[in-house]
Amino acid sequence: MSDASPVTLERDGHAAWLTLNRPEARNALSLPTLNLLRDLLAEIRADDSIWAVVLTGAGDKAFCAGADLKERRVMPEDMVPQFVRQIRATMDDIASLPQPTIAAMNGHAFGGGCEMALACDLRILDEGAMIGLTETSLAIIPGAGGCVRLPYLVGAAKAKELILLARRLGAAEAQSIGLVHEVAPAGRAREQASAMLAALQKNGPLALRAAKDAIDGGLDRTVEQALEYEAACYQRIIPTEDRLEALAAFAEKRAPDFAGR
Ligand code: COA
Repeated sequence: MSDASPVTLERDGHAAWLTLNRPEARNALSLPTLNLLRDLLAEIRADDSIWAVVLTGAGDKAFCAGADLKERRVMPEDMVPQFVRQIRATMDDIASLPQPTIAAMNGHAFGGGCEMALACDLRILDEGAMIGLTETSLAIIPGAGGCVRLPYLVGAAKAKELILLARRLGAAEAQSIGLVHEVAPAGRAREQASAMLAALQKNGPLALRAAKDAIDGGLDRTVEQALEYEAACYQRIIPTEDRLEALAAFAEKRAPDFAGR
């Protein structure tokens, strides 16, 4: 077992890279890992200079093999609900980050690892990796948002097939059903995430936050309420310097230089 921190946070310009760092345990989510991850997510949430976030895993075998099954095996039954609450809250923390998030899946993503990717906005999977909500094969159910977020993405019928059969999908099939946005050549999920980050960062950072908020906030509203919510999100960006900068750049036929204000 390594003494290294189970999660690392690195800054690269206006991007933050969160890396699950337990490759020897296929980046499984132990309680100390979740506790640290939640602290780092709180730091990112409060930092306006961070415009986008990438989640990835150390090594080349797994993005995340889900809950730490060795820890779970010795966990007293009365602690299990606390663990499930903590892993669900972690995924909710990811889903509710104001910044756009990319899951750069450098390897397999099972159980909680798949749920973590589902909580991100954009998903890239290594071509040799597999992904799935495999919990029922362990006689449990996805409890960190998987039963809710997967049907939103692929529809209830497909979600039932994947969860009830505990299917492990290859990258091409995952992309064909819309579970992942991009498939990266073997070993290059992080590089592909860097390219996606560069594409994101051509756009106004406050607009990215507002668009994410308008989409997520619209999902649990009626169409009429969702349109009102979209209008409120739009309103937030009207007084920004970046909006004026984009208009000036368009007129001057140059690339805009956004400041996030
Ligand atoms: N929790 C704790 N440890 C895990 C783990 C998990 N979820 N997944 C893997 N590990 C550990 C293994 O026990 C093994 O430890 P050891 O070296 O002490 O024996 C080590 O990580 C390497 O695992 P191994 O299975 O040999 O690696 P692999 O690269 O051949 O396969 C996986 C990787 C992810 C495909 C495979 O480990 C797996 O299927 N894990 C379970 C995934 C799962 O069902 N998760 C859902 C949890 S709800």
